[in-house]
Amino acid sequence: MTQNIVFSEKALELRAKAREIADKYVRPAAAKHDKAQEYNHEAAKAVAEAGLFRTFVPEEYGGYGAGVLALSCVAEELAKADSGFGVAFAVNALGSFPIILGGTEEQKKEWLPKIAAGEKFVAFCLSEKFAGSDASGLSVSATLEGDEYVIRGEKKWTTNGGVADYYSVFCVTDSTSKSRRISAIMVEKGTPGFTVKKVEDKMGIRCVPVVETHFDGVRVPKSNLIGGRAGVGFKHAMMTLDYARPGVAAQAVGASQGALDLANVYANRRKQFGVPISNHQMVQYMLANMAMKTEASRQLVYAAAAAIDEVGPSPANSKRAAMAKCFATDVAMEVATDAVQVFGGYGFMEDYPIAKFFRDAKILSIYEGTNQIQRMVIARHLIREAGELEHLQEFIPTEVQESYEPDSVPQA
Ligand code: CAA
Repeated sequence: MTQNIVFSEKALELRAKAREIADKYVRPAAAKHDKAQEYNHEAAKAVAEAGLFRTFVPEEYGGYGAGVLALSCVAEELAKADSGFGVAFAVNALGSFPIILGGTEEQKKEWLPKIAAGEKFVAFCLSEKFAGSDASGLSVSATLEGDEYVIRGEKKWTTNGGVADYYSVFCVTDSTSKSRRISAIMVEKGTPGFTVKKVEDKMGIRCVPVVETHFDGVRVPKSNLIGGRAGVGFKHAMMTLDYARPGVAAQAVGASQGALDLANVYANRRKQFGVPISNHQMVQYMLANMAMKTEASRQLVYAAAAAIDEVGPSPANSKRAAMAKCFATDVAMEVATDAVQVFGGYGFMEDYPIAKFFRDAKILSIYEGTNQIQRMVIARHLIREAGELEHLQEFIPTEVQESYEPDSVPQA
C-alpha cells in the first residue's frame, strides 16, 4: 500500500526552526565537539527553547503531538549539520516512546511535560554486553521488594548516558517466563546505585556520549514500572523501535544530504584537467547516484513516518520502519563513501568535515537494530504476507505445489 505524505503546518514550522538551529549552533561547532568528544549543550539549549523536544510528545502532556513525520524532519535537519547531534536529539524520542506508547496516565503526566520542555533528557537502556541483536536475551534484573524494584546489572551502549536525566531501563522481572520476562522501568539520574561507567571512545557521532550504565542495587518505587504491568516490556521495546527507526532513517537522509551538498560544492570549485571536476562524466555519475539514492531514502522515510502517524503500531508499519531504516542507513554509508571519493586526497583528511560524515555514517547501520536485523524483520513480514497471495498459487508449477509442506516454511 502506498502512503500519502502530508506535512502539517507544525511539521514545516519545526523543520524550519531545526534548520535555523543547525546553521547557527550545530554545523559551526561540529568539528570542535567531535574532536573533544563533547556534548553540544548550546545547541541542545537552543533546541529546547525552540520547542523542538515538544515535537514527539502528545499535546495532552505539553507537546505539539506533531508525530513521527515531524520528528523525522527535525532529525534530518540536525543530522545534515552533524550526525552526532542528530542522534543526541532523536534519542530523546527513543527513550520517551516506551512512556508515550505504554505508560500509565500518571506516568505520562509526571514525565512527559518535562521532556517536552527540554528540562529533562532521556536515554533508552536495552542493549547489554551479551544482548545486542538478541534483545530478549538481556539479563539486567529487577526484583520486587515491598513497594520497590531493585535493579542489578549493567547496560551497554547507552546513548546520551550521563547527559540524560531519565533512563528507560529494560529488565528481567520474571526469569521463569518466556513471553513475559521483561519489563521497562524508569530510573532517574542520581538514584543511589546508578552510575555511568565506561564512556566509549568512538569512531563517529563523538559529540554524543555512549556509555555503560551500571545498576548496583538501584531502588526505585514500584510506580516507575512503565505501564504499571510487568511482562510487557519486550513488546514495548519492539513498538518503540518501530516508532524510532524512521527517526534514525531520517538522520541518515540528513547525513546523506549533508555529504552530497559538500561534494557538490567541492566538485564545482575543484579544477583538474583545466575544468571543475563536475565537468567530468565520472564525477557527474557519482553525484547523480548520490542524489537519487538520497531522494529515494527520503521518500521511503517520510512514507514510513506518515503511515505510523496515520495508523499507529501495526505489522505493516513495523516492516515500513525497518525498510526505511535499512535502506536509508545503507545509502548514508554509500553516499558518504562517494563524497570522500569526490573530495579525493582532501576527503581523507580530518581538516575537512567530509571525513567526519564518513565516520559518523557507519553507526547508522548498526544502532537501533543492525541492518541484518532489519532485513530479518522485513523478511518475516514478507513470508507472512505470502499466505495472503493464494490467488497466485495457480501460477506455481504443479509439482512445486504438490511438494508444499506448510510446516517447513520459516515461522513469521
Ligand atoms: N511490535 C509489537 N510486538 C512485537 C514486535 C513489534 N514490532 N516484534 C515482536 N513482537 C512480539 C512478538 O509478537 C512476540 O510476542 P509473543 O511472545 O506474544 O508471541 C514477542 O514480541 C517476541 O517476538 P519475536 O519472537 O519476533 O522475538 P525475537 O527474539 O525473535 O526477536 C528481533 C525479534 C526483531 C530480532 C528483536 O530482538 C530486535 O529488534 N533486535 C534488535 C534490537 C535492537 O534494535 N536494539 C537496538 C538498541 S537501541 C539503540 O541502538 C539506541 C541507540 O544507541 C541510539
